[in-house]
Amino acid sequence: MYRLFFALFFRRMDAEKAHHLAFRWIQLAVRIPVLRTFLAAALAPRYKELRTEALGRRMHGPFGLAAGFDKNAVAIDGMTMLGFDHVEIGTVTAQPQPGNPKKRLFRLVPDRALINRMGFNNDGSASVAARLAARNPVFPTTVGVNIGKTKVVPEDEASADYVTSTERLARHADYLVVNVSSPNTPGLRNLQAVDHLRPLLTAVREAADRTVTDRRVPLLVKIAPDLADADVDAVADLAVELGLDGIIATNTTIAREGLGLTSDPALIAETGGLSGAPVKERSLEVLRRLYARVGDSITLVGVGGIENAEDAWQRILAGATLVQGYSAFIYQGPFWCRAIHKGLATRLRNSPYATLAEAVGAEHKKVTA
Ligand SMILES: Cc1cc2nc3c(=O)[nH]c(=O)nc-3n(C[C@H](O)[C@H](O)[C@H](O)COP(=O)(O)O)c2cc1C
Repeated sequence: MYRLFFALFFRRMDAEKAHHLAFRWIQLAVRIPVLRTFLAAALAPRYKELRTEALGRRMHGPFGLAAGFDKNAVAIDGMTMLGFDHVEIGTVTAQPQPGNPKKRLFRLVPDRALINRMGFNNDGSASVAARLAARNPVFPTTVGVNIGKTKVVPEDEASADYVTSTERLARHADYLVVNVSSPNTPGLRNLQAVDHLRPLLTAVREAADRTVTDRRVPLLVKIAPDLADADVDAVADLAVELGLDGIIATNTTIAREGLGLTSDPALIAETGGLSGAPVKERSLEVLRRLYARVGDSITLVGVGGIENAEDAWQRILAGATLVQGYSAFIYQGPFWCRAIHKGLATRLRNSPYATLAEAVGAEHKKVTA
């Protein structure tokens, strides 16, 4: 039904307008108690076997909303109502910023993909922190806070910018993510080089520990699928060296070649990060590589091109404790999480693994056994 609705309605609208409209409906639905209870029961059924522990949190399941959908932390309850087991808000920057000029979000329908060059449009970390502080959750969930660099701040002052956001946001975060992998802030991805990343992550860790003294806020880094394999290994080694809690793999790609894209060439040529089905293979490859390097020592979060339960299951077997999605939600709509959960529970039941935790990284253990 959603697909028909998408084809007849959303597809004809500007992609960003459609996003805002859907967003408003979700926010509206969550304000009506009877409706939200009904929708949560229908769309977010809880499967006992999918209960999982990660980043020091007990979660209903492994499947969460990737960063970028709820940049300003205004729809956490709504996304939980739709079935996401954790919600990563952001990317939030220290200063509020409008992002890039519109049009900046494009749908590549035949490729089940999106290209975006949003450019971290967000209210800034002071406003988002105030919103999180005032939040009275209807559906308690795990909230990740993803932070990035303000566009006008030069690269050599990046650490201070991330530290400002950390000081404001860490206390509201169940986990904190340093995003150094979005392609739409000039120079941002240079921060993935270990020489830049080491001092940045160290400064953010110190700022989180300084501002939150009653618990240790888990810290993760989010990387691009475009890193060379040697650089993926270097980030993995650094994460272990610095005692990071996890790595999120991956963000969107700037690649276009060799992905079998069949959409209108003018769309394919749009500048920005490509997400959805075409990034699936490389995201999985990066995840496998990370797990081969770090094993169970830190938490890996698999994201990029997850469209169905089988994709999510493959990420878990490849080493992801948590999985996330964004683009396929746009194409598949409100029943998407429900289908993922149902399929994951079935797969786990039919597998040799007693728990989800046992399945994490199982494909590597089989190879080395
Ligand atoms: C419109 C859009 C905006 C995004 N904004 C962010 C962002 O602000 N921060 C971030 O870390 N990732 C952002 N992402 C990347 C997603 O979180 C995710 O890593 C990527 O889209 C791959 O997953 P998918 O194929 O399931 O969409 C964005 C993705 C899209 C499509």
